[in-house]
Amino acid sequence: MAGAIARWFNERAPGLAPMYRKHMTEYYAPKNFNVMYYFGSLAMLVLVNQILTGIFLAMFYKPSALEVFPGTSEAFASVYYIMRDVDWGWLIRYMHTTGASMFFVVVYLHMFRGLMYGSYKKPRELVWILGMLIFLVLMAEAFMGYVLPWGNMSFWGAKVIISLFGAIPVVGETLVHWIMGDFSPADATLNRFFSLHVVALPIVLLLLVVLHLAALHEVGSNNPDGVEIKKKKNEKGIPLDGIPFHPYYTVKDLFGVGMFLLICAFIIFFAPGMGGWFLEHDNFVPANHLVTPAAIKPVWYFTPFYAILRMIPFKLPGVLTMFGAIILLFLTPWIDRGQVKSIRYRGTGYKIALALFAVSFISLGLVGAEVTAEAIPMIFGANADITSIENLFGRFWVLVYFGFFVFLWVYTYFGLEKTKPVPERVTTHD
Ligand code: HEM
Repeated sequence: MAGAIARWFNERAPGLAPMYRKHMTEYYAPKNFNVMYYFGSLAMLVLVNQILTGIFLAMFYKPSALEVFPGTSEAFASVYYIMRDVDWGWLIRYMHTTGASMFFVVVYLHMFRGLMYGSYKKPRELVWILGMLIFLVLMAEAFMGYVLPWGNMSFWGAKVIISLFGAIPVVGETLVHWIMGDFSPADATLNRFFSLHVVALPIVLLLLVVLHLAALHEVGSNNPDGVEIKKKKNEKGIPLDGIPFHPYYTVKDLFGVGMFLLICAFIIFFAPGMGGWFLEHDNFVPANHLVTPAAIKPVWYFTPFYAILRMIPFKLPGVLTMFGAIILLFLTPWIDRGQVKSIRYRGTGYKIALALFAVSFISLGLVGAEVTAEAIPMIFGANADITSIENLFGRFWVLVYFGFFVFLWVYTYFGLEKTKPVPERVTTHD
């Protein structure tokens, strides 16, 4: 029966079977993938989850800032209608909100893996650039999604972030009004963000993910040893250290999916707000343009970049530095001139620098999330000057963040890195 169906398709679309073979059964992936290689497939899983749960949310959600009763918009009310009255609506919404945060957990680990094993280096620069474009679109997608419930943090978050465009000389103010469609975030803003969030950006994301994988499959995967497995092939032209993606890695990835879903299920059923990290307390309050939340801060996954913005005293330099932090990641393949890919064989300098870079990212995240502002009086006493201490701490980690890229260039351009010999084949080939 299965054979007959396959033949039926083959006669009508002869290109499908070779494509399946190219990307699945005859895609030879290095046999030494470790846990850090789970996150690509997990990112795809979360993307599918976001699209599917998003479709059902959109069936009941109303993108309208108009009031259904005093102080509460139709958008806010529709979200609580989903939570309380729609059958299983709470589950679908929590799957979507948890998915949003888990998307960034997975993508940040996926990117860190790239930095650990030099996956951005030749010949995978395009894979990295497409990944960075995905990251940018993902940030826009998450930001617009956050505005949709029209809670108080949605409103003020939208106001602060859209106002950043006001820092652009000459056209800034006009641009801000053009994006908002009003003089403050309003019904028009909500409608266009809804349209971009549910249609335009998901299409772009899907397209970029397809291109990301197509680019990867042209050059083949890197691995924890940073060895190019295509350099050593058997007489049939199959890499000696490669194994067919299907069934070997489909099965391995399924194990990762099982573990990941367990963690997600725990969050969804027992701690969907994650103590205010995944769902912020101020967003349980309807939008109010007369009352600002005590601290306007984005969701955790934006806080490292938000902290960079806040640590720079002036608006335009702040915005430029924040974007600079992302642009440097785009340029990493050209900043790092080292020949050795994997951290296993790189110099001690790189290991320390990458560890410090990770610490700077987390520390900036804590600054942006106001954790430091809350911790300072506890550590330094009630009279401590929170702003000065926070600026000192935050600016130090901004320097470390940018210092990583400067160090990386100097270290590799001037040949200061003392690398270990890279093996001919992956270390687990026996
Ligand atoms: C929706 C988001 C993303 C999805 C669905 C996705 C998917 C994937 C998949 C399935 C793989 C192959 C399996 C693996 O190596 O883990 C991969 C590899 C890769 N991705 Fe992504 N990715 C995403 C975002 C990113 C981002 C933001 C970056 C970094 C800028 C990135 C950089 C890379 C690199 C460099 C590789 C090759 C890794 C290697 O061979 O060692 N990806 N991606």
